[in-house]
Amino acid sequence: MHQRTTPRPLVLLGIALACWASAASAQTPPVGRLLASNCFQCHGTNGKGPGFDTLAGKSASELYKEMKEFQSGKEGQNIMAKHAMGYTDAQLRALADWLSKQR
Ligand code: HEC
Repeated sequence: MHQRTTPRPLVLLGIALACWASAASAQTPPVGRLLASNCFQCHGTNGKGPGFDTLAGKSASELYKEMKEFQSGKEGQNIMAKHAMGYTDAQLRALADWLSKQR
């Protein structure tokens, strides 16, 4: 009796995880895109303009470097300095990577 009932919660957990994983991959955009969506208001949808400088297609390392410069205040206390402060290094890398792949 005990042996027959033990696998069931695991099977249900497996089914639940499978559903969750497929739903998550079908509906959640990549992390980089979610983070970069904050930029679209001013730099255009997907960073493709129109608006301020086009971001799409710039290299990830260049975008990351520019964001770190804004963050450090070297570029002055402009809107980008404030904006860049809201991101961790990992987040900047993820959004720079995503933007660099937009054509
Ligand atoms: C509220 C508007 C606004 C938002 C939101 C915004 N930007 Fe900007 N961005 C600007 C403005 C304005 C400039 C020009 C600043 C300057 O040159 O002093 C700029 C410049 C830049 C530049 C420099 C481009 C170059 O060629 O010199 C980069 C890189 C950049 N933004 C990246 C981003 C990223 C990445 C995001 C999202 C995380 C973002 N921006 C969100 C307004 C915005």
